[in-house]
Amino acid sequence: MDRHAVIWTKTAAGPIKMGDLVVTDIDARFAYGEAFLESGNPDGLSLLTSPKIYGREAVVFRLRPSFPLHPRLMQFIPGHGRNNIQRRLYTKALERRPQPPSPGFDTDWEILMLAGRNGIGHIDVFRDDVVAGEWYERPAKEKPSNTDRSAFWKAIREDISEDMEAINPDQIAQLLGPTPSAGGMIPKLLVAIPDETNWTGEFAAAGTRRSNSKPYVDVLLKIEPREYEGVVALESLCIELHRELGFEVPRIWRTSIDGMRLLAVERFDRDKNGLPIPMESFYSVFATGDTAFNGNEDTDIEEVGQRLEKLSTVVNLNQKVARREVYRRFCLAFCTGNGDMHLENLSFLGGPNKTRVAPVYDPSPMRAWPQHNVRSSIPIIFADGSLRENILRVGAAFGLPYPEAASALDEMLEATKTYAQRVMDAEAVPEERKRNLTAILEKERLNLT
Ligand SMILES: Nc1ncnc2c1ncn2[C@@H]1O[C@H](COP(=O)(O)OP(=O)(O)OP(=O)(O)O)[C@@H](O)[C@H]1O
Ligand SMILES: [Mg+2]
Repeated sequence: MDRHAVIWTKTAAGPIKMGDLVVTDIDARFAYGEAFLESGNPDGLSLLTSPKIYGREAVVFRLRPSFPLHPRLMQFIPGHGRNNIQRRLYTKALERRPQPPSPGFDTDWEILMLAGRNGIGHIDVFRDDVVAGEWYERPAKEKPSNTDRSAFWKAIREDISEDMEAINPDQIAQLLGPTPSAGGMIPKLLVAIPDETNWTGEFAAAGTRRSNSKPYVDVLLKIEPREYEGVVALESLCIELHRELGFEVPRIWRTSIDGMRLLAVERFDRDKNGLPIPMESFYSVFATGDTAFNGNEDTDIEEVGQRLEKLSTVVNLNQKVARREVYRRFCLAFCTGNGDMHLENLSFLGGPNKTRVAPVYDPSPMRAWPQHNVRSSIPIIFADGSLRENILRVGAAFGLPYPEAASALDEMLEATKTYAQRVMDAEAVPEERKRNLTAILEKERLNLT
């Protein structure tokens, strides 16, 4: 059965239809619309399938098991983990239909039709143009009342702390409208919060610019689940560390509501007027450009550097700056016990005419949790020599000759001298996590020095 959808985007001149999507059993085809092509908007479906490259030719993506859609659209399909609020929300809503979709891609497609908009980046997906028109014309949501809000937090808290289904889809929909998915293991929501130094948990629907005469800012809201107790404090510490080292990082806010810890991260895929900025993960770009790519294991760190160089021949990316940036992030990840810098934790920001590596996000030291204790989720191919020698060797793929790679790694080692102590001093992190992480760090520093 063929499935149809339309893709739109929001620009300064208003919403515009980008084109039509048809998904068959063997491929997914997207074709740009005439009006979009005539508008000259360079920011199409994805970096490697821009209107400049494809024009009137259909963007045909041959489906493979891990990609039942164009890779760029996979971001709208919520993960299957228990912590995925969106998956549970929409599954419940769909189950109440007279004819619920069957599990699997049928369900995922229906979720895409319900939630494929206002997500990360600039792509909005709808069933048809009528639905799109209604969506863009809908009135702005009123800010939820205090009573609504506290009921909301209570439901979220119960849902993440007990293994219990407290979340009421109607209530969340009423407060936030459709909440798009934003991938990953930590439960999260896209909302707006007051643009003030201190945050006490007030929020409104994503896209709210002003409420009660206060300016609002769009954030990604991460909710600490019990099995990752301490992750909010540790992620904040690592964001701070990146900031001190001169990396570009978003502003963050922390608060705790009834013992539930929250981290709000300012979205960098929205400009100050709330208009979307294209954003696409390395994962999506690699999967679009390479038919053999199915996951993080299908590449290695060295190859990431080479792929960045290659990408700069197709899009306007300063590959020298980008490669150095990514290499420095890898070095710091090794020194902080991150281990989780996979290809969805690295993104490109801006369309093909001005592409850059997105600011740092999700730099949590996941090695503190035994089930995530891997050195690097993107393989590093080991040749002879120590870990240090191997890391420095791959610097060349990032445009850094051995001595320059050494100075990058040494800078990170120097900057993390007191990091283990800062981990030990962190509040709201279980002792066992701290001890785990610092023991790993102590050993790893010997391999890195
Ligand atoms: N500040 C931000 N601005 C725009 N998009 C963001 C921002 N932070 C994260 N994102 C997007 O949201 C997605 C999920 O966020 P994040 O990676 O922080 O959490 P997570 O995926 O749950 O963590 P993990 O990777 O450990 O599972 C990211 O992959 C990225 O696409
Ligand atoms: Mg992530």
